[in-house]
Amino acid sequence: MAILYLHRIVESLYILVVFILQFSSLQFPSLGYTFPDKYFINCGSDSNVSESGRVYVGESNLGTSFVSSHSEKSESAAPSPLYQTARIFRSESWYEFSIDANATYLVRLHFFPFSFPSNLSSARFNVSVPGFWLSQNFDGGDHTNNNSALVKEFFMHIPTSTIKITFRPLPSSLAFVNAIELFIVPLNLIADQVARFTLDNRGVLSTYTGLYSRVLETKHRLNVGGQTTNDTLLRKWIPDDSYLVYPGNAHNHPAYKGQIPYHVHDDSGGPNATRYTAPSDVYGTAKESRNASASAEDIQLFNITWALPVEKNIDHLLRLHFCDYWSPSSGLLFFQLSIYDNQVMPVNNDGNVSKVVPSPYYYDFMVRSDNSGFMRVSVIPNASATIINAFLNGLEIMKVIETSSSVSDGQESNSRHISLPVVLGSVLGGLVLLFVVVLLGFLCRLRMRKEKPVENSDWLPIPVTAGGSSHSRLTDGTSLGSPLPNINLGLKIPLIDLQLATKNFHASQIIGKGGFGNVYKGVLRNGEIAAVKRSQPGSGQGLPEFQTEIMVLSKIRHRHLVSLIGYCDERFEMILVYEYMEKGTLRDHLYNTKLPTLSWKQRLEICIGAARGLCYLHKGAAGGIIHRDVKSTNILLDENLVAKVADFGLSRSGPLDTQPYVSTGVKGTFGYLDPEYFRSQQLTEKSDVYSFGVVLLEVLCARAVIDPSLPREQINLAEWGMLCKNKGILQEIIDPSIKDQIDQNSLRKFSETVEKCLQEDGCDRPSMGDVLWDLEYALQLQRGANAIPREPYEDSSSSLSVSLQLPNVRRLPSLSTLSEADDSIVRGDESDNAADSVFSQLKIDDAR
Ligand SMILES: *[C@@H]1O[C@H](CO)[C@@H](O)[C@H](O)[C@H]1NC(C)=O
Ligand SMILES: *[C@@H]1O[C@H](CO)[C@@H](O)[C@H](O)[C@H]1NC(C)=O
Ligand SMILES: *[C@@H]1O[C@H](CO)[C@@H](O)[C@H](O)[C@H]1NC(C)=O
Ligand SMILES: *[C@@H]1O[C@H](CO)[C@@H](O)[C@H](O)[C@H]1NC(C)=O
Ligand SMILES: *[C@@H]1O[C@H](CO)[C@@H](O)[C@H](O)[C@H]1NC(C)=O
Ligand SMILES: *[C@@H]1O[C@H](CO)[C@@H](O)[C@H](O)[C@H]1NC(C)=O
Ligand SMILES: *[C@@H]1O[C@H](CO)[C@@H](O)[C@H](O)[C@H]1NC(C)=O
Repeated sequence: MAILYLHRIVESLYILVVFILQFSSLQFPSLGYTFPDKYFINCGSDSNVSESGRVYVGESNLGTSFVSSHSEKSESAAPSPLYQTARIFRSESWYEFSIDANATYLVRLHFFPFSFPSNLSSARFNVSVPGFWLSQNFDGGDHTNNNSALVKEFFMHIPTSTIKITFRPLPSSLAFVNAIELFIVPLNLIADQVARFTLDNRGVLSTYTGLYSRVLETKHRLNVGGQTTNDTLLRKWIPDDSYLVYPGNAHNHPAYKGQIPYHVHDDSGGPNATRYTAPSDVYGTAKESRNASASAEDIQLFNITWALPVEKNIDHLLRLHFCDYWSPSSGLLFFQLSIYDNQVMPVNNDGNVSKVVPSPYYYDFMVRSDNSGFMRVSVIPNASATIINAFLNGLEIMKVIETSSSVSDGQESNSRHISLPVVLGSVLGGLVLLFVVVLLGFLCRLRMRKEKPVENSDWLPIPVTAGGSSHSRLTDGTSLGSPLPNINLGLKIPLIDLQLATKNFHASQIIGKGGFGNVYKGVLRNGEIAAVKRSQPGSGQGLPEFQTEIMVLSKIRHRHLVSLIGYCDERFEMILVYEYMEKGTLRDHLYNTKLPTLSWKQRLEICIGAARGLCYLHKGAAGGIIHRDVKSTNILLDENLVAKVADFGLSRSGPLDTQPYVSTGVKGTFGYLDPEYFRSQQLTEKSDVYSFGVVLLEVLCARAVIDPSLPREQINLAEWGMLCKNKGILQEIIDPSIKDQIDQNSLRKFSETVEKCLQEDGCDRPSMGDVLWDLEYALQLQRGANAIPREPYEDSSSSLSVSLQLPNVRRLPSLSTLSEADDSIVRGDESDNAADSVFSQLKIDDAR
């Protein structure tokens, strides 16, 4: 898993290098090293161990060795190979992990105090992360002879890009650890803000903020009414029976047979659960009241109460999971929730947001434990409900660890930070060889991955709703109804995958910004590089538009259109994932750039590609699509400088010829805007033609379409270009770097095309198909000029060369990634027809 991505490899090599440097200079009294951001480590061992479906990597396989601590292997028959080895520390030591900043992480430490060869029962130590004690005065002797490991689990929001876990043996003792797990958890699994219950307030809730600046330690995790189980985050859930105060009051409801319909949207910020919140084993089992139909007087006596041991007078996060999977509809079953015998709130089975049964939801409470050493939680049936009952599906209690000033925050490590160039300088040699070998290995892997069809990717398709609800989960919380069944669920990517792909949406991954939010570069699980466009809430794009965009985009596949790889609509997110375009935007290659200038021929080919893409949008998909924001930054280039049109965010599809789309507001970019559209707000495909004309001028002149620093008549490129064309001085404003290579006939054809595109009146402008033809022609003229001795200003000779090369003109655009299975994809490529008309028109032209 860890070797999926190149950056990971580079990172681990860097770590290796850093470590070796530390080793060679013997500068450091303590152990310190760094790993990538998802770790399962078999401490103190050289070999990997597989346990519960996870591979715990041996420390030596991480390319590390140790200075001040040693490892010991137990001869004892520990229950798992994972626990037969431990890393033993005899002085303060730490593991340092590099991670993605500003994310919530789960840390698990496994302790199995074996007694031979070292007697770990005598271990006494503290464990800390910067600012927090995770464990104080840990006593190995407390945990001996149970023949099971003690696993401590913590959740922490980490603002920095490294995390150090430090082990401090008490004087003349030792510290140890058998295994470490550290990985990022889904966004919003734990919120910064929760409801606060205090005994002083006797059940009145207030607000508690600041979980992100604290650490949570798991104390209890109960699958109420169910069996021991575990989940995707490898959390262990155990039965609740031994914590029941009145076992006679409750019994287990039969388990749910269907699929738990997890929520995908949680726009309300409400209590809806996602599939990461708790597994279906938890939501699909419950404990309910026995003798539910009792009379009103003694209903209290049928409460279900749990008492769980906790530390006294400390804040705990209490999370209660509910899912009524047996009531025929919502609103029939409600009951009272109590904490420490104080009524807190009524619980209704409709789960607040979608009035559907079943629907999984949860409530979080910050509760300060009392003096009893127990946390008491009760559910009490309500006699006025139609169905008199009370139930609970799951319960979690996590202790809140406050920051402590007695923990050194690990600042001393900063002075030891070694920058990469220095390191490379000092340990080149063998490492270079190693790097090359690993890199080659990686590239081979990558190639193998690339050859796999997309269907084999690691993306998990979301399970289709079952359980008798006709309600579409995707529409939960929205008023939108019909278009959703068309959404291609196979394109859905889990949010956690996108977090991992983009280093948790880290600023260093941003490759574009706009009003909608940011675009991040990311490496997906299948090794594919992608552009991840994440809409910010409040960016103006609503959910219906987002869904429309997915529907439109998922149907479009064309060599000259940037294709949609997937999307994510979990929780608040609206994320679109596109293919990544290596060479960036067309504008990046034209001006204000350090990139090499494009030749005239390359520019023509790019324009032709973009024209093909637009042509396909206009004529290809049924009904036609108007781009509405054609500009040089929306034309992207792949590694071979093949142009692809991007950003259909403003696209609208509709029957073009019959009734032009009347938009509600002018959209587009100043400088490219069709003046006719601006006046009439009548949107036609000719508006795209106008904007494309401006792009052509931009390509020819290599300057901004609006440049306020220029004299007044030159500010607007479209106007200035037309003025020059009319005066016959267009030659003077051409990009000087291509002036010498450009063939006069090619230029003439090109500038005529621009002029036609920029006509005031939409109906005087050519169609995209005609523009495409003209550009093809201009390219042929240029090629002819390059191929045979130039006879300037002689159209006849160029025509001759053109007719000789006719077969080349009919270059069929290839449909690159059409999937046969999807019949919603338009079968033919309309630019075929365009090419046909190019063909016939060319012959007519030649015959003239
Ligand atoms: C936990 O998950 C692992 C792997 O999925 C499985 O082998 C193990 O039996 C599970 N344990 C329980 C108690 O369900
Ligand atoms: C983390 O979040 C804080 C506050 O939201 C921000 O100031 C900081 O720059 C972020 N750090 C990184 C590395 O993104
Ligand atoms: C290990 O140490 C504990 C106390 O530190 C002691 O009770 C126990 O007998 C020792 N076990 C062995 C095998 O030495
Ligand atoms: C091990 O057993 C002792 C005493 O029986 C108990 O106090 C301790 O909590 C147990 N530890 C674990 C991890 O079960
Ligand atoms: C371990 O924690 C205890 C309790 O806070 C503290 O008194 C002790 O000094 C710590 N020991 C070390 C080595 O940090
Ligand atoms: C509850 O129901 C059981 C049978 O389901 C019965 O034996 C018991 O007496 C009832 N208890 C009360 C308090 O009604
Ligand atoms: C809960 O039920 C038990 C036994 O049925 C009863 O003794 C207790 O008073 C009840 N608690 C409340 C708060 O009603």
